[in-house]
Amino acid sequence: MKAPIKTVTTIAAAALFAIGLAGCGDKPTASVGKTVVSGAADIGGAYKLINQDGVAVTEITALGKPQLIYFGFSYCPDVCPTALQKMGAVQARIDPAADKLNYLFISVDPERDTPESLKLYVTANGFPKGLTGLTGTQDQIDAVKSAYKVYSQKVPTPDSAADYTVDHSDIIYLMDKDGTFVEFFFGKSTVPEMAERIRTHLKTGK
Ligand code: NI
Repeated sequence: MKAPIKTVTTIAAAALFAIGLAGCGDKPTASVGKTVVSGAADIGGAYKLINQDGVAVTEITALGKPQLIYFGFSYCPDVCPTALQKMGAVQARIDPAADKLNYLFISVDPERDTPESLKLYVTANGFPKGLTGLTGTQDQIDAVKSAYKVYSQKVPTPDSAADYTVDHSDIIYLMDKDGTFVEFFFGKSTVPEMAERIRTHLKTGK
């Protein structure tokens, strides 16, 4: 797999990404030290993926409203459900502005995350209402991961019923209605704090 993350230019940004990394595996990821970014302004961009209804979409499909985007995989036992439930709690908290955002879950495990399996997954209890699940070919997923500077790595799990797990970044991205990066939220971000920052963003009309 090609390196999803590009050259470092700021130590601060690299540190933020290091905080944002969390494995779904047992061990802390060994790749934190190599995680580097080229700057927040570069985050986001064009992609072609398939939604949970089997419909081909691009980044344009989600424009028109600010977006919260999370990258993960449906087999993830804890990190992804926790993040998506947090997103759901944020949605509930900013009601009635909740429908002013688009909520996206992008798979880093396209091998197992088919549109059919995502269709069920996105309706899980506590996840945001209207959550869109996106998957694609491995190349399409690699491209969108690269665009968002997302780290993920398959990790074999010979002792488990599943063949592998996937260590991945634990970051919720806030993008504006034109698809421009606004800010990240990490595991430590609380629901009230996220809701407040999103409300503040919504006031900008972007
Ligand atoms: Ni996960």
